[in-house]
Amino acid sequence: MAQFNQLIGTIGVVAFLSACASTTPPAVDLGTTPPDVTLAADSLAFDAVGTVSFAASWNAATDDETPAASIVYELWIVAGATTTAFDELAEVKAGTRLATGANLLATDVTSITTNNNLAAGTAYLVNILAKDAADNEDVYEPQVLTTETVNNAVTFDPTVAALMDRAPAQAGCRGCHTAGGAIPVFFEANGTTFDLTTAAQEVSALVIPGNYSASTFYRRIAGTVGSRMPPVGNYMSAEEVESIRIWIADGAPLN
Ligand code: HEC
Repeated sequence: MAQFNQLIGTIGVVAFLSACASTTPPAVDLGTTPPDVTLAADSLAFDAVGTVSFAASWNAATDDETPAASIVYELWIVAGATTTAFDELAEVKAGTRLATGANLLATDVTSITTNNNLAAGTAYLVNILAKDAADNEDVYEPQVLTTETVNNAVTFDPTVAALMDRAPAQAGCRGCHTAGGAIPVFFEANGTTFDLTTAAQEVSALVIPGNYSASTFYRRIAGTVGSRMPPVGNYMSAEEVESIRIWIADGAPLN
């Protein structure tokens, strides 16, 4: 009997040790209920809609097990305009998950600016997918987004070039952003030639064709980021700022 007990004891120890050696952690029940989107479902809204990009924002979902900071959000999109065709999980996942920056698969995010990969003048259905830590998913109410059309209403030369080629007192940029002056250089030493999309890119994202809201050039004259340009003299008028916005939204052609 003593021998039998010893044997059982050995088996017990071996079983215990092998259980410890296993790398699988004990299962934690994260639930099967998807994030609750009922209060947030209608909150998806758009801003800064350009020809190739837009910004989206929405209210956070809640979950019975996953803390708010760990809920993952994805932005899904499909060409079309009938919202009833994009309000089921399966329909949404048959669309395209839009990436922005490094990715869009992010936790605790309730706003995003998309990449510059849309078509101009096109209607899209957009929806938000919320996912909890156990991969339970649900979708919001889809919204229709229509990108701006390209109408080439503003030409670079003379309109944009002429607006820049003025003294600060006239809300222009000449006098500072010339070679040897403030960076970025818009005006070369020999005259008024400048290329906002390539040569003057000492700073990143000076002009992103089609995406005015992410273009530093637009943001500085509109005063939405950093110190508003020009730092002395007069700001550009609302109409002048708007014409530059249209020019960038149209793809910033050097026409
Ligand atoms: C009186 C001088 C002056 C004038 C005029 C001026 N700027 Fe500037 N600008 C500066 C200086 C100095 C900086 C660098 C400091 C800073 O970032 O604010 C700068 C920075 C900038 C930047 C930021 C680049 C970055 O690093 O993000 C942009 C874009 C810009 N200017 C555009 C303009 C435009 C467009 C005009 C004409 C409407 C203009 N500036 C007129 C002096 C000037």
